[in-house]
Amino acid sequence: MKKKVTKNNLTWFNGPVSREDREHNHGHKGAAVWFTGLSASGKSTVAHNLEKLLLKQGCSTYVFDGDNVRHGLCSDIGFSPEDRSENIRRIGEMIKLFVDAGIIAITAFISPYKKDRERIRSLLDDGQFYEIFVDCPVDICEKRDQKGIYAKARTGEIKNFTGISAPYEIPENPDLVIPSHEEDSMDAAERVLELMRQGKIVPFLDGH
Ligand code: ADX
Repeated sequence: MKKKVTKNNLTWFNGPVSREDREHNHGHKGAAVWFTGLSASGKSTVAHNLEKLLLKQGCSTYVFDGDNVRHGLCSDIGFSPEDRSENIRRIGEMIKLFVDAGIIAITAFISPYKKDRERIRSLLDDGQFYEIFVDCPVDICEKRDQKGIYAKARTGEIKNFTGISAPYEIPENPDLVIPSHEEDSMDAAERVLELMRQGKIVPFLDGH
């Protein structure tokens, strides 16, 4: 075992295989690509398009989606401000482990609070966290909404609904902004991939 750090009588063991070793096997670095934005803004669509592009290049990836994670890991969590923070905290800890596994973790959570998103950034090394703001006006999200939840939010059937009866804190310094009401979702995914190539997470197609 290489290193032990003790806190509250708990010990973190780093095994003999390092993140760099795993990244070498994957052929790219581990990273978190964090899409944030309103419900029905298009986060999941761009996230899954990005995964397709990365997969074509042989990368190891996984998309974590708000509704999916709330079926299991966070099924006990609601939508109060405290619950949302706990939702994002748990997800952040999980993502940290995936990044340590050398995987490209792509997430699509509303994650409305700046402090929660910043906490995730602080869990990871510099250059391994991309905050991508999927910027879509709420009236367009509402028109697009296939689940009918905006209608329920308008009548008050769903409380604390982001953009209607709960806040969304716009990212001040995102790594990328995607105006999803104006930009094709595959073009947007290509732009994220380009950013990851420039950041040396993923190699360029000519191998450098
Ligand atoms: S977050 O705010 O905690 O980041 P998350 O991304 O996990 O939210 O879940 C959002 C999804 O939950 C939405 O796409 C929607 O389907 C559903 N949902 C149910 N209630 C709410 C609500 N009050 N506000 C926002 N989304 C809700």
